Amino acid sequence: MKERLEALRDAAFKEIQDNIDLNELEELRVKFLGKKGEITKILRDMGKLSAEMRPVIGQMANEVRADLENKINETKEILKTKAKEQRIDSETIDITVNTKDIKRGHRHPLIQTAEELEDLFISMGFSVVTGPEIETVENNFDALNSPDNHPSRDLSDTFYINDELLLRTHTSPVQIRSMKKYGAPLRIVSAGRTFRYDDVDDTHSPMFHQLEGLVVDENISMANLIHTLDIFIKELFGDDMKTRYRPHHFPFTEPSAEVDVTCIECRGEGCPACNFTGWSMELLGCGMVHPQVLENCGIDSEKYTGFAFGMGIDRIAMVKYGIKDIRLLFENDNRFLEQF
Ligand code: DAH
Repeated sequence: MKERLEALRDAAFKEIQDNIDLNELEELRVKFLGKKGEITKILRDMGKLSAEMRPVIGQMANEVRADLENKINETKEILKTKAKEQRIDSETIDITVNTKDIKRGHRHPLIQTAEELEDLFISMGFSVVTGPEIETVENNFDALNSPDNHPSRDLSDTFYINDELLLRTHTSPVQIRSMKKYGAPLRIVSAGRTFRYDDVDDTHSPMFHQLEGLVVDENISMANLIHTLDIFIKELFGDDMKTRYRPHHFPFTEPSAEVDVTCIECRGEGCPACNFTGWSMELLGCGMVHPQVLENCGIDSEKYTGFAFGMGIDRIAMVKYGIKDIRLLFENDNRFLEQF
């Protein structure tokens, strides 16, 4: 029995020395020291020993167990330290590595334009809000007073997700969301992506950007609308800029107008860019909020009136920076973007 215990200790020590890892060490502990382990097996045979030998072997078994326990614990500590050192080594960041060649992006001219527009309206007391790009048909069309047979509802114009959801075709549904959430009085602008089933050409893209504005309060009139937009255009393009309001139709405003702005290329002289009219056409849509739209959002149209406007941010960026092809805005070529 003595020999068995000694052989067991030697075998265990040898196994521990052979490049063991933490899991194997635990297996080894169970194999030798566990309840069904080797030492227990040997102790089970103690009954066969003479009375004098029993304490001797018992003591020796305890010694072997203690030796093994110590060795295993010691090895465990060493392995843990090693693992930690390896992890620290592998996670080291070499700050001397040359990163000069990493290509950085550039702030997009559309985002710059959108933020510039927002800033201008913030300075006039507007709050900036956002709305989702996936909208309900209700917010995008119904609540905006758009008749059931309005052509923009057509499958060939609008990306539907199902009968109730679509990719918003304009930022005007943010008007609905804001009026329902905040009520009146209200003064907000909202910029973001919009989507229409358009073929790509120089001036069209199925994904484009708009900025929407809405003011609701007591005694708001068309004069407030014209004054606000005039100031805005002068701030954006310069003091010599003029605006021209042409009657138009939008379901959600009455009366409605389209706004032309002095041609920024020739400053009104007439040039090829403006077809010698002196005007940049259709830069904005606007009007007095239709009373039905106010009522749809729970706002008393006897007490409150409002004006609203919407503009294409892509159009404005193109006019502002002299960009002739809208596709350049979406190709994300750094050589183009870095110019702004
Ligand atoms: N939603 C219109 C469009 O996409 C633009 C517009 C026109 C917005 C008049 C308005 C508005 O808020 O009053 O063509």
